[in-house]
Amino acid sequence: MSDHLVNADDRVKPAKDGANHPTLIRVHDALICCDSAWEEAYLRFESPEQEISKFRQRLLRLGAEQWSRDATIVELFCGRGGALCAWKQLGFSRLEGVDLSERLLRQYQGAARLYVCDARDLPFDSASRDIIAVQGGLHHLERLPQDVDRTLAEAARVLRPGGLFVAVEPWLTPFLRAVHAISEIKLVRRTLPKFDAFATMTEHERSTYEAWLHNPELVLQLLRKHFEPQHLRIRLGKLEFVGRRRD
Ligand SMILES: C[S@@+](CC[C@H](N)C(=O)[O-])C[C@H]1O[C@@H](n2cnc3c(N)ncnc32)[C@H](O)[C@@H]1O
Repeated sequence: MSDHLVNADDRVKPAKDGANHPTLIRVHDALICCDSAWEEAYLRFESPEQEISKFRQRLLRLGAEQWSRDATIVELFCGRGGALCAWKQLGFSRLEGVDLSERLLRQYQGAARLYVCDARDLPFDSASRDIIAVQGGLHHLERLPQDVDRTLAEAARVLRPGGLFVAVEPWLTPFLRAVHAISEIKLVRRTLPKFDAFATMTEHERSTYEAWLHNPELVLQLLRKHFEPQHLRIRLGKLEFVGRRRD
């Protein structure tokens, strides 16, 4: 086991070399997301700076400016942690990230505590966190509705009464259909790396992605089952949802 990877029941230790490596807490066995082609495409889709800027603007649009800077925040399906950096830039510092891919978690540089962990089974006490966010993760779960229901139930369990659940996920709008159509054109893929990365990701996550995109009513029903919607908007191929834990 490396210096930066500890078991969940070990004490959390800082990296020994003083570098800005994350401390990883292993709760479950690590898994690659989809396959290595998917992970490589995800890493080249946007630069870390582009990704952080995207998350920052998104969180502001969702109302983050109004949220207490003391809030304890868990970013589920955090990947390489761009959203954790965005939260930090917005003044939040009590941050934790959860993802199954150790390789992606290791790309993160920052002070958030990271867990190699399945979002369906969180290692946190009930009613212990203020905000739980997921951005582009629920559509990776294998079984709809079971896994999505279980993940949302876990998030609701971990949130304090009145706590916020934030979700941003792909949504099948005319905009997204156009992006799919463009990204399938060979010349576009050859000349525009971002479209090639997008097309590669959708090819390698196809079964869960399609199930998600083609069941919007079911997804909304699951979100409403666990959270009282505060903000629900479809925008540029994304569902933006902020809800309060139902008591
Ligand atoms: C599309 S990526 C999104 C990453 C990040 N939210 C972002 O937008 O940059 C989906 C992530 O979900 C993770 N993942 C998939 N299934 C998971 C699960 N059951 N529990 C935790 N993470 C999971 C993958 O490892 C991957 O990093």
